[in-house]
Amino acid sequence: MTPIFELDPERVKNNLDCNLIGSEVLLLDVVDSTNERVKELLKEGAPEGLVVIADSQTSGKGRMGRSWVSPPGLGIYLSVLLTPTLSPRQFPSLTLLAGVAAVTAINEFSHTPAMLKWPNDILLKGKKLCGILCELLPLENQRSGVVVGIGININHSATQFPKELRHSATSLKIENGAPVDRFHLVRSLLNHLDSEYEACLVAGPAPLVKKWTEHTDMFDKQISLKQGKSVIHGTAVRLDPLGNLVIRTPDGREHSFEGGEVTLGKP
Ligand code: BTN
Repeated sequence: MTPIFELDPERVKNNLDCNLIGSEVLLLDVVDSTNERVKELLKEGAPEGLVVIADSQTSGKGRMGRSWVSPPGLGIYLSVLLTPTLSPRQFPSLTLLAGVAAVTAINEFSHTPAMLKWPNDILLKGKKLCGILCELLPLENQRSGVVVGIGININHSATQFPKELRHSATSLKIENGAPVDRFHLVRSLLNHLDSEYEACLVAGPAPLVKKWTEHTDMFDKQISLKQGKSVIHGTAVRLDPLGNLVIRTPDGREHSFEGGEVTLGKP
């Protein structure tokens, strides 16, 4: 097992090039979920920019009520607390922001470019490499906070994924053919989150849509979008300025969607 000291909190904190993110860095050997730990620490007055990193999670949370497999020594599991001054309708852009920061950092270490799949999956050669779970947190005085949780599969071998995930999940080590140092990737990820966040606070979230679009290959392709029990088939066209997905249905009409689960390819 890779020693946890590779992710020493002082080493992480002292090597960041961040203004806001990493105001506090907490490294845990094991936790239920880094997102849940951030929520607990927020109640105790944690500052914006708090980063919680765990070597493993016992109840890692994924989107749509799924779990995120988080074995020790292999992945990056981290959550960041943000309390931005964006309007509530702009909060979904933080998901795009996290996706842009994560894919940029990952691509500094990946031999093949990883790609974003709306809203915030990162795929490498069509398999899931990274997932992002952003949760809105109620704060006092009409403010809101967001916990941005990011899980990246780094040094897993194929057999270290549960059998049912082996066809759909991958890691950097599987695709590169060599392990990646988690410390360097964590540092790059936090630096990119910080610079994207600062840019977003200054210029608003609109430029994120352009950056997000530069890291996807899903447009002009046939997709299915599952929303609850309904499934919409069509062509993925673009993101609108708020980061909603625009789909052209076979009747030629365009529709915008705020959420859902995309499957690439024809039904
Ligand atoms: C997804 O379903 O794609 C989102 C997965 C998000 C996993 C990360 S791991 C760190 C953070 N803590 C959690 O419990 N979940 C997120």
